[in-house]
Amino acid sequence: MNKRFSASACGKIILLGEHAVVYGRPAIAVPVTQVRATATVKPGEHGLFIHAADIDRSVAVDSANSNDPLAAIVNLTLAHLSCPRPDLEITIRSTIPIASGLGSGAAVSTAIVRALAQWCSARLDDAEVNALVYEVEKLHHGTPSGIDNTVIVYQQPVYFIRDAAMQTFAVAQPFTVAIGNTGVASSTRITVGDVRTGWEIDRARYEAWFDRIGAIVQQARSAIESGAIDRLGPLMDQNQVLLRDLDVSSVELERLILAAKQAGASGAKLVGGGRGGNMIALVDDRSVAAVTAALKDAGAVNTIVTEIG
Ligand code: MEV
Repeated sequence: MNKRFSASACGKIILLGEHAVVYGRPAIAVPVTQVRATATVKPGEHGLFIHAADIDRSVAVDSANSNDPLAAIVNLTLAHLSCPRPDLEITIRSTIPIASGLGSGAAVSTAIVRALAQWCSARLDDAEVNALVYEVEKLHHGTPSGIDNTVIVYQQPVYFIRDAAMQTFAVAQPFTVAIGNTGVASSTRITVGDVRTGWEIDRARYEAWFDRIGAIVQQARSAIESGAIDRLGPLMDQNQVLLRDLDVSSVELERLILAAKQAGASGAKLVGGGRGGNMIALVDDRSVAAVTAALKDAGAVNTIVTEIG
């Protein structure tokens, strides 16, 4: 039998609001379609195996630890679909760097769910896919807000509030963001956990920071919806100051942020969990070339330019 099914999912960036979103404040995230994770399902022999070629990892699903995210998404999906457990080989290929704030874990899970659904000749709507992927995000991140799986599964800009219905928003005037990768892998589970420890020690201080981030996100949404992109850069800078207060920036991120600003970006900040991974800079036609060159000179291992809207 030559049955073979593939599905893919995009990456994402959080434009504003990471970390505070875990505590009920809004955040804005957008898909990044230049990077993708792809899952291919084909008949296998003697059980269910996953091969993640890019990270040189193979998982035997039937004997894997119950906390293993790759095995978990396969088990959850087959159970949800009431699909028999066939002998299968699932291959993952991904251009999304792992542990870098671009949503690699959620994208891999989304691709696996959709490829398995095809294999089982089942239709899953986005809400079902989102719920399955969110379960596995808990294994990746501990206490995820759900923003990563939501923006990746729906593949559209989201204004996200934890436990509330998903909202999208209009982009009145498209804008461009340059993404710079520090090349430093950083675990979101650790940074989210460290923020939680700080919050438990001094709730009033952290809640005040989260409130300020939430207010910045609201202003950013209205700037994006009204096409006032000149207001967005300063809001990203203000968000970055608060992310520094939360102690989730790093020397490498700050180096790229400074380089981008000096080269003409109108705002710049880290994205995702922080302490490594990627940063973003708001650019326009005049500054994009200088900013990407400056990011590379400052040590970015990769840059992506993406248009939003
Ligand atoms: C991770 O991409 C974003 C965080 O806000 C965590 C979360 O929302 O689950 C740091």
